[in-house]
Amino acid sequence: MGIEKIPRHVAIIMDGNGRWAKLREKPRIFGHRKGVERAKEASEFALEVGIEVLSLYAFSTENWARPKDEVEFLMTLLENYLDKELPTMVEKGIRFHPIGRIHQLPESTRKKVLETVKATEKNDKLTLNLALNYGGQAELVDAFKSLAQMVLEGHLQPREIQEKLVEEYLYTRGQPPPDLLIRTSGERRISNFLLWQMAYTEFYFTSTLWPDFDRAEFLKALLDYQKRERRFGGV
Ligand code: FPP
Repeated sequence: MGIEKIPRHVAIIMDGNGRWAKLREKPRIFGHRKGVERAKEASEFALEVGIEVLSLYAFSTENWARPKDEVEFLMTLLENYLDKELPTMVEKGIRFHPIGRIHQLPESTRKKVLETVKATEKNDKLTLNLALNYGGQAELVDAFKSLAQMVLEGHLQPREIQEKLVEEYLYTRGQPPPDLLIRTSGERRISNFLLWQMAYTEFYFTSTLWPDFDRAEFLKALLDYQKRERRFGGV
């Protein structure tokens, strides 16, 4: 590929499916369908260039507020995607790792999600963190609850609660933090995505809508990232 300085972990907020569809006078779900195609393309590209972890924000804890039809469509789309993609994930060495409150997903979706986890757990070429019913604040609340419980039971002293320990209780335990965050469609917000993990992440914003975010766009983001100097609070 000829790209130096490949980020180990890239996070993407895939935004703009609705607007993309609207521009074509189609229903929003038309945009989501194309969005799934681009999510597959992004995973393949990540694999090819040697990115270790790709985190895709597919459904947030706030997305339940969308019309019921759209939520149902997204869940069905996810189930179909997992059905269709499983053989590819197995063949290419992609480990499927959902992040979020998976236990609150509809039964059939949860079942499929957990099956896919099981079938890909030994894979190690690329970890695909798919954020489903994910919220960064919720993730931290869950971690703090676990730590509080351990203190309550006398297994942990408050002074032992350090950054490294908190990280053990996040969905991303054991993974490097995102080096690069990409957000499409012109919005410049973090929207509750990987809040703890993005302490030193480089941000890349593009006006391109997610259904138009192809390999060339991904490459552009990587080239932009390459030019940046990261100091992590040092000099
Ligand atoms: C943002 O567009 C998109 C979402 C909230 C859903 C993201 C979902 C996909 C790309 C498909 C699911 C992915 C997989 C891998 C199953 P928007 O609806 O917020 O668009 P808008 O901001 O233009 O309204």
